[in-house]
Amino acid sequence: MTPRKPLIAGNWKMHGRRADLAEIAATMRLAGAAREGIEVAFCPPAAYVAAAAALGLAPVGGQDCSGQQGDGARTGEISAAMLADCGAAYVIVGHSERRAQHGEGDELVCAKAKAAFAAGLSPIICVGESWREREAGRAADVTAAQIAASVPESAPANLVLAYEPVWAVGSDRTPTAAEIADMHRLAREALAARIGVSAAAGARILYGGSVSARNAAEIFSITGVDGALVGRASLKAADFAAIILAHPAASAH
Ligand code: 13P
Repeated sequence: MTPRKPLIAGNWKMHGRRADLAEIAATMRLAGAAREGIEVAFCPPAAYVAAAAALGLAPVGGQDCSGQQGDGARTGEISAAMLADCGAAYVIVGHSERRAQHGEGDELVCAKAKAAFAAGLSPIICVGESWREREAGRAADVTAAQIAASVPESAPANLVLAYEPVWAVGSDRTPTAAEIADMHRLAREALAARIGVSAAAGARILYGGSVSARNAAEIFSITGVDGALVGRASLKAADFAAIILAHPAASAH
């Protein structure tokens, strides 16, 4: 099996203006030679995907797409095919903010991931438990059930899974290294049950939730963590580059 190339993706959420696309160039400049061993991707708001991709500096992703594959009467929705047409390589689906704020369930997330594959994109499928679920000892069950229902059956290995505990998103709280290791082991097992052992072995599983320059080195050192999905700390080049440079693969180049 070819080793999984680490992926560190910035999710800008609903932040930024056209002028902030300059942060992409600045990040890549600061990351320097680290870019050889690490894939760095940017998921700006949909309005800026085409402009970000046109820079040609790094892979770009959308933050959401429609679950419908063809065009249609869906005011406000953007299809995976349109994102691909704008130069995107990735699309985040099932982010906890979409699940909570827009009532998205596993079935819709699965349809979105299928639409992503059909358009030639790699979906970054987000899963993870709430604080209440973790406190109740249900983190593993909830996350495994989300993987079973959100990941399309027989998905190829270019799938990316992001384990993002809901309570760690935007909170400055993170699970312990041991908890992250446990959840990533479980996530790969659940993925293998869903898409087969060999595709699951090739798929990258990212950790997301309050990743910062302060904790990135420890998180990247955890077995089974293939990178990160970064929110706030991806908005400014200095912060994001510090995270990229904290990856062990950064110093190998
Ligand atoms: P923060 O890094 O701001 O906690 O956000 C994480 C996230 O939701 C990435 O998708």
